[in-house]
Amino acid sequence: MVQRWLREQLRQRGKFRRRRIRRVEEERERTQKWFGIHLDQQVRLVVEFVEPFEYQGSCGVSAFVIDGTALADETLREVASRVAACVERRVLPGLAVVLVGEDPASLVYVRNKSRKATQVGIVARDLRLPGDSSTASLLALVSELNADRAVHGILIQLPLPSQIDAQTVLAAVDPAKDVDGFHPDNLGRLMLGIPRFVACTPQGCMLMIERAGTQLDGARALVIGRSTIVGKPMAQLLLQANATVTMAHSRTNDLRALVGMADVVVAAVGRANMVRGEWIAKEATVIDVGMNRGPDGKLCGDVEYDVARQRARAISPVPGGVGPMTIACLMRNVVLSAERTAGLA
Ligand code: GUN
Repeated sequence: MVQRWLREQLRQRGKFRRRRIRRVEEERERTQKWFGIHLDQQVRLVVEFVEPFEYQGSCGVSAFVIDGTALADETLREVASRVAACVERRVLPGLAVVLVGEDPASLVYVRNKSRKATQVGIVARDLRLPGDSSTASLLALVSELNADRAVHGILIQLPLPSQIDAQTVLAAVDPAKDVDGFHPDNLGRLMLGIPRFVACTPQGCMLMIERAGTQLDGARALVIGRSTIVGKPMAQLLLQANATVTMAHSRTNDLRALVGMADVVVAAVGRANMVRGEWIAKEATVIDVGMNRGPDGKLCGDVEYDVARQRARAISPVPGGVGPMTIACLMRNVVLSAERTAGLA
């Protein structure tokens, strides 16, 4: 059915001869092997590869949507089989999720993390401290978890209440169990190109860029946002993939011009629709890390999706984009830690 659709699209344009159609179909088969992605997405991707400008212009077909939920499911299936291999070696991967206080968004995040962990066979331990806890009490808990051999990953949900010294707490986590990749050691190692754990959101973004078939070698990449959780590690990963990286933030002049020059845009500012769709360069790959409530109360990203989608080559949606990939990459990090314990990695 998809093939018929493809033929019809090509015929309508009246420019493709049979030979051309065959080439597109061969290309599609090859793409299926590379990416293993859903058929109609492949067709769109392939047509865009073959005739990107003409196809988008004349048929009004929008960007390849990078389905974070599907990619996360695939990633989690891989994790589940790696967990099984650890269990065969008598190592049962364990994740401790620590939440201080009752921030409603954090409550949802930690619940989702524990649920996904359980789904792939990781033992999740939920630990809750009251919102008025001290730095000392959290440090005592971290110290216990560091010493616990059943725990391979420790996650301290951020943000922490203001009375807690977050930097001291993150630095107290055993770097070998720091599955968030936030310990100074692990951030430093990432910068040196010898990562132990890569922060989950940037790791997920890289997998999505790869899934979109985007070439990073020599590409101009723009990271908007300079947080330690996303922006800074993201820039390092792009740099290591040989992209030319620009970092923009709240004080950046003329963001529009920078966006217009970028082959890859990673938006992580946390402001609804701040990146206007019309700023996006034709054929750019857009990864939207934002998770905001728009004026209509609906979830939306940092990028004006509907307009950007008409210009970009590939774009990640919100919801259903980076969010599920962040959790999947957390599970990757936990199983990696367990594999190290089991002598499998
Ligand atoms: N808060 C928002 N994102 C994250 C994350 O990736 N890890 C932790 N620990 N807290 C967060």
